[in-house]
Amino acid sequence: MITFQHTPVLAEEVLSTIDNNPSVYLDLTSGGGNHAARIIDRYPEITAVLIDRDDDAIAHLKEKFAGYSNVKVVKSAFSNLDKVLFLLQISKVDLILADLGVSSFQFDTAERGFSFRLDGPMDMRMDQSAGLSALDYIRSTGEGELRSVLSEYGGEREAGRMARLLKKCVEEGMTTTTQFAEAISKAKRFSKKGIDPATQIFMSLRMAVNNELGELESGLKKGFSVLSEHGIMSVISFHSTEDRIVKNFFRNRKNGLPFYVEDGDEMPFESGRVMSVELHLPSEGEIAGNPRSRSAKLRVLKK
Ligand SMILES: C[S@@+](CC[C@H](N)C(=O)[O-])C[C@H]1O[C@@H](n2cnc3c(N)ncnc32)[C@H](O)[C@@H]1O
Repeated sequence: MITFQHTPVLAEEVLSTIDNNPSVYLDLTSGGGNHAARIIDRYPEITAVLIDRDDDAIAHLKEKFAGYSNVKVVKSAFSNLDKVLFLLQISKVDLILADLGVSSFQFDTAERGFSFRLDGPMDMRMDQSAGLSALDYIRSTGEGELRSVLSEYGGEREAGRMARLLKKCVEEGMTTTTQFAEAISKAKRFSKKGIDPATQIFMSLRMAVNNELGELESGLKKGFSVLSEHGIMSVISFHSTEDRIVKNFFRNRKNGLPFYVEDGDEMPFESGRVMSVELHLPSEGEIAGNPRSRSAKLRVLKK
């Protein structure tokens, strides 16, 4: 079995906000299955659909829940949740959980290329069977677009210079995380105190390579549209841009605004009234025990 170290964030809060006795649970970002295990323990009869787009996570989840006939593990990007549910012949879901970003397992595995501290290939794909690696993404993306990505996703002050630098690194034949991190560190003029100069740049590249914001927008819309009456959608985000998307989406649903499920749809969509939206933050105790939880925000929508 793959050793899959990941401490679930805001796990108590996720459980304590479930008050609808759910029959069907959809986990959009199952990872190590730690949140899922707690939910399945509490509701042993529940039908659980566990999605992830990472092959290692899927292999781990299949082993972890091997004896459970009520747990379906599916490899997919969560933007395809409608197709996953269609194939399983499930039309409504009572509980949706999305715990966004990368798992500690992905981050701490050098060969996946997420960490600038570990020497590995510039990959950063959650699904290594699809899309461009970070290296190919930099190679095939124009300097102007790279600059926007660094500035918008990472708030990078030196976005123009850093975009030029990334292109130059590729031209000079660099291929590994530590080569890029070193070049960034040498070239940067300003960095936030206590933060490695490569942090924001690596995060921005990861968000672009995995289309994380596009996935989130699509997952929220499709998730809301399959949520049953009294259904609960819980989203944990770690980044202000992500959180803003979740906050605005929940607020607009609370205000009863319609939306388009897919780009190009002819009719705006509106499904059900939202009773409440809530925000939960990690306790000081959780932050002390798991510093990764520091920037986490849990938003809960109840239909
Ligand atoms: C923070 S971890 C989730 C950890 C999990 N809640 C647990 O308790 O172990 C995020 C997981 O979501 C997956 N993921 C992120 N974005 C995804 C997407 N758009 N579609 C499918 N899986 C995604 C990643 O591959 C990763 O395994």
